[in-house]
Amino acid sequence: MIEVHLGDITRLHVDVIVNAANQRLLGGGGVDGAIHRAAGPALLEACRVIGGCPVGEVRATQGYGLPVKRIYHTVGPVWRGGNLGEPELLASCYRQCLNLARRENAHSLAFPAISCGVYDYPPELAVEVAVEQAQQHLDRDGGPRHVIFCCIDEDMAELYRMQLDACVRR
Ligand code: APR
Repeated sequence: MIEVHLGDITRLHVDVIVNAANQRLLGGGGVDGAIHRAAGPALLEACRVIGGCPVGEVRATQGYGLPVKRIYHTVGPVWRGGNLGEPELLASCYRQCLNLARRENAHSLAFPAISCGVYDYPPELAVEVAVEQAQQHLDRDGGPRHVIFCCIDEDMAELYRMQLDACVRR
């Protein structure tokens, strides 16, 4: 099942939430800042030990103060016009998170709109990538059964709903 949820990702009770981090993994603004604030200083310490993450990849930590088992920290691409591999890198973020969820036997996984804030990825293009990857991985031998696209604002949520509707009609 794919669901669109309007609200703060740090409030979700799921197996895994995904963080839209940066390569240093030392926190920041946006959803990254919200997750670090809610999880507490032990998260920052765990991220410091991991030592960073390349664009398009994922690193996992515990949930600490959050009501989740795991936090997956992935680094989306900065949008620079779309010809510098941005779509492939964004797809890689989603794919690596979904694959890791399968390996870790996580059933529910919530994504923010990776790269759609500070990193400036056009939201209408990002939702195509996100939904395509989720549909490819959902229910695949032991993969997550429940993928949530969590949006803090209604405009973003509406883009996901429209993309999911378009996929059903196709
Ligand atoms: N819950 C859900 N979604 C949120 C929340 C939240 N609490 N806070 C922000 N968002 C949404 C934003 O509205 C946006 O649609 O998450 C999306 C991603 O925005 P950013 O957090 O700015 O992430 P990104 O564009 O990937 O940029 C990453 O921002 O602060 C930094 O450390 C982070 O440098 C990294 C960069």
